[in-house]
Amino acid sequence: MAYLDIPGHVQQKPKEVTLEEIQAVLGNCQRCELGQTRTKLVFGVGNPHARVMFVGEGPGKNEDLQGEPFVGAAGKKLNELLERCGLCRDDIYIANVVKCRPPANRNPKPAEIEACAPYLREQMRSIWPDAIVCLGNFATQFVMKTELGITKLRGKMYQVGHFQVVPTFHPAATIYHPDWLQDLESDLRMLADWLAAHPKGVES
Ligand code: URA
Repeated sequence: MAYLDIPGHVQQKPKEVTLEEIQAVLGNCQRCELGQTRTKLVFGVGNPHARVMFVGEGPGKNEDLQGEPFVGAAGKKLNELLERCGLCRDDIYIANVVKCRPPANRNPKPAEIEACAPYLREQMRSIWPDAIVCLGNFATQFVMKTELGITKLRGKMYQVGHFQVVPTFHPAATIYHPDWLQDLESDLRMLADWLAAHPKGVES
């Protein structure tokens, strides 16, 4: 397994901050221009003590309307994959690199990612999962602090500070590249196998 010891990265759980406290600090966030165009801020959803955290790119149309991540077409694909791999959505936490929808689903801009970064980092600290699944390039580049693309990185688990990181394709990308679905499923199966081999609370 590759080990990335990244200076300045989230490596220690320094304080107990609850997700509610982080959300309260975000409030009616206007720290970047996405605050002007969003319908709802999409903070994240799931088990606050999850062993696995999924990180996506940013809310789409349905997420923006409902205020919850991965409830549209990509979410349906993700749910199917989780079920096939024996991972339960109730046992995971899902958040995005940016918490507000970029207009017309454009890529988030560097300034928007930077404005949102402290909140995702605090969510990672608060949940302190064993593993983080990075869905697509934006999440991978954020969590792994790399410029490398997903096709180069996927297929392996990486230790990044405290976390086991699984970079993989974004479920939405498999709609246009159906052949990637198999790779995404195989990456999630690799994670499920790792979780089974490393039961919670048992040091390896
Ligand atoms: N795509 C994402 O990256 N995040 C969502 O919440 C939905 C679609």
